[in-house]
Amino acid sequence: MKALLLCGGEGTRLRPFTHTRPKQLFPLVNKPILFYILEYLAVSPIREVVMITGTTGAQIRAAVGNGEKWGLRITYVEQPQPLGLAHTVLIAEEALGAEAFMMYLGDNLLEEPLSDIIQTFARNYAEGRLDELVLVHEVKNPSRFGVAEIEGDRVIKVIEKPEAPRSNLALAGIYFFSPEIYNSVRNISPSTRGELEITDAIQDLINRGQTVGYRRLKGWWKDTGSPEELLSAQKMLLKQEKKQIRGELFRSHATGRIQLGDNSIVENSWLKGPVCIGAGCRIKDAVLGPFLSVGDRVEISQAEVEKSILLPDCRVANLSLTDSILGERSRASARRPTYLEAPRFPHRLLLGDDSSVELQAKRGRKTRYY
Ligand code: DAU
Repeated sequence: MKALLLCGGEGTRLRPFTHTRPKQLFPLVNKPILFYILEYLAVSPIREVVMITGTTGAQIRAAVGNGEKWGLRITYVEQPQPLGLAHTVLIAEEALGAEAFMMYLGDNLLEEPLSDIIQTFARNYAEGRLDELVLVHEVKNPSRFGVAEIEGDRVIKVIEKPEAPRSNLALAGIYFFSPEIYNSVRNISPSTRGELEITDAIQDLINRGQTVGYRRLKGWWKDTGSPEELLSAQKMLLKQEKKQIRGELFRSHATGRIQLGDNSIVENSWLKGPVCIGAGCRIKDAVLGPFLSVGDRVEISQAEVEKSILLPDCRVANLSLTDSILGERSRASARRPTYLEAPRFPHRLLLGDDSSVELQAKRGRKTRYY
């Protein structure tokens, strides 16, 4: 079976980070999201991947190549404009051929191995029990997703981002389609947001009497479409990391699972795992973690940082940060160490690549920073 892997789209909800990179290449625990997906595929029965790319195609092709690093054969299909998930099915028809295939959205991460999921589809499809299969996951905010209504072991209705959802089962970004999907995509029209919606195509399959089954994903599942979701996905990934210390710790204390890359030096600091620090970093007088990843060559001094993502070459000084994402080569600092002030006010910063923020102290009865 082939996989259709979607890496187009504009990633508008992830600006400013997607001004400078495709969202599928945003690193979590210092590795691009797309590489996790290719690793899932590498240990699955799938060998051939048709990858959809958009305006950021050149960056994706440069990072992934022909897929041999993962034992995969990748063919690229260009989608000049993000005209919708169902539109990608149409433009990939020739490359996919007349067989059932798996469609995977390039910003979705999950805990359950793909092999188990693929086997469920392959067995039931071969035995004629279903024609298509969607993966679902219970969520607290279904209006953010495509939502499935089920009856017994079938899906009876799917709606894209409904205002009043009638179930809490989100469509996870993994679908198995028979070649009937091509006819369904030809039957639908663009939605009010101008896209050919995959949910409309699935509804057309149901209306035409196809048996669309569903399966609940086991373990966690994340759509990494917003900064909050990036941070929450990274939390899950950090929990799976193993301890590995290659750099050096001086007069420092480390608790929990810590990864410290080559030539990184940590001095007079406390690392509270899970924390992943890349190579060539300089950390001094800091309290880091939990749930923090730090890219290569980052410098941190007199700071406290938790639940955040710091991309390569950024610098943090005199600050207390939480739930923050700092782009490559960005700078965040305060004139005096805010984290020594009592009470402490951790800041939340989302800083694009090459951006810089310096917080100024305003003196009063208590020192506040703006
Ligand atoms: O993550 C699950 C959700 O994904 C589902 O519950 C929804 O039913 C489904 O429509 C989708 O919603 P999103 O709003 O999250 O889709 P997004 O625009 O983020 O696109 C998902 C992936 O597909 C992403 O890697 C970009 C890529 N894409 C998107 C569009 C619109 C393309 O390759 N081409 C496109 O035209």
